Amino acid sequence: MAVLVTGGTGFIGSHTCIELLNAGEEIVVADNFSNSKPEVLNRLKKITGKDIPFKKVDLCDEAETEKLFKEYKIDEVIHFAGYKAVGESVAEPLMYYENNLGSTFNIIKMMKKYGCKRIVFSSSATVYGIPETVPIKEDFPISAINPYGRTKLFIEEILRDLCVSDADFSVVLLRYFNPIGAHESGLIGEDPKGIPNNLMPYICKVAAGKLPILSVYGNDYPTRDGSGVRDYIHVVDLAKGHVCALDYMRKNKGAKAINLGTGNGYSVFELVRAYEKASGITVPFKVTERRPGDAAECYADPSLAKELLGWSAEYGVDRMCEDVARWQKMNPDGYGD
Ligand code: UD1
Repeated sequence: MAVLVTGGTGFIGSHTCIELLNAGEEIVVADNFSNSKPEVLNRLKKITGKDIPFKKVDLCDEAETEKLFKEYKIDEVIHFAGYKAVGESVAEPLMYYENNLGSTFNIIKMMKKYGCKRIVFSSSATVYGIPETVPIKEDFPISAINPYGRTKLFIEEILRDLCVSDADFSVVLLRYFNPIGAHESGLIGEDPKGIPNNLMPYICKVAAGKLPILSVYGNDYPTRDGSGVRDYIHVVDLAKGHVCALDYMRKNKGAKAINLGTGNGYSVFELVRAYEKASGITVPFKVTERRPGDAAECYADPSLAKELLGWSAEYGVDRMCEDVARWQKMNPDGYGD
């Protein structure tokens, strides 16, 4: 009886492992460290006091994936593993389709073969494309504007088809808004490779003096201060949403897409100020051109998560920034080499 956590050493996966263990779940983690470090496992042990069963697995390899299902009695899968950089996906679309879809196919094949019928999938608010209105509800039209987003869309549809083909399947498609924050221990957090694409890790690098200046991508959006507005959500809140989703799947069949967001939008300038306040460090910035493909505003209507999962976000943006600042201070080089 175990929950397979794919991508369990990544940013969201690692925080979810803690919440699963806190809830008394038995887990097995599979990762190939393509975008994470083995040190995460030591940190998880420090935090939870438990040795987490771990397998280094390339989920694109069917035989390796099958070994996992043979060795453990896997009842549920939480599928985080996947490439996630939008720009890279535009440059290397095949790599994204092969990796994100290929690993998912193998997992589904093995789920079918070994009688495992419940899966939570890490989807993204990216499936809403550029939304016409906010807050965003789950029944809004979905579309993709880059290969990364298309892999999320395709996998959502594939998992829905699976539920149509077998009424015993349970699928929860969690559409994340913008996860930031870190565990309160300061031992785990976000550690992106190279120059970050996303706002919060970029702010951190600038505050740490590792990058010279933050570019604010546009101050002429129709928002309260002209910069882009997003629904930043604490990664620990997000992690707890997965525990609730497991519980939901055990009681309900079929496929459900559910937003995980706070319902509150913060602008780029507001997030910068919140981080400055939390860290005591000034973050230099300059306003530049808009980034192609960016929406002005994107925030969730999180009421379905409340209704179906009994979940809502607890932490606000100040707490998110305090936890990120602590992680950054304690780990100036992330998990190191
Ligand atoms: C990103 C992803 C999206 C994914 C989402 C949640 C891109 C292009 N999109 O979107 O697919 O679903 O995260 O994980 O990566 N900003 C700056 N300067 C920066 C970086 C960002 O001003 O250096 C602004 C952006 O214009 C935006 C906001 O900050 O208004 C947030 O950007 P980001 O963190 O990249 O998240 P999303 O754009 O929401």
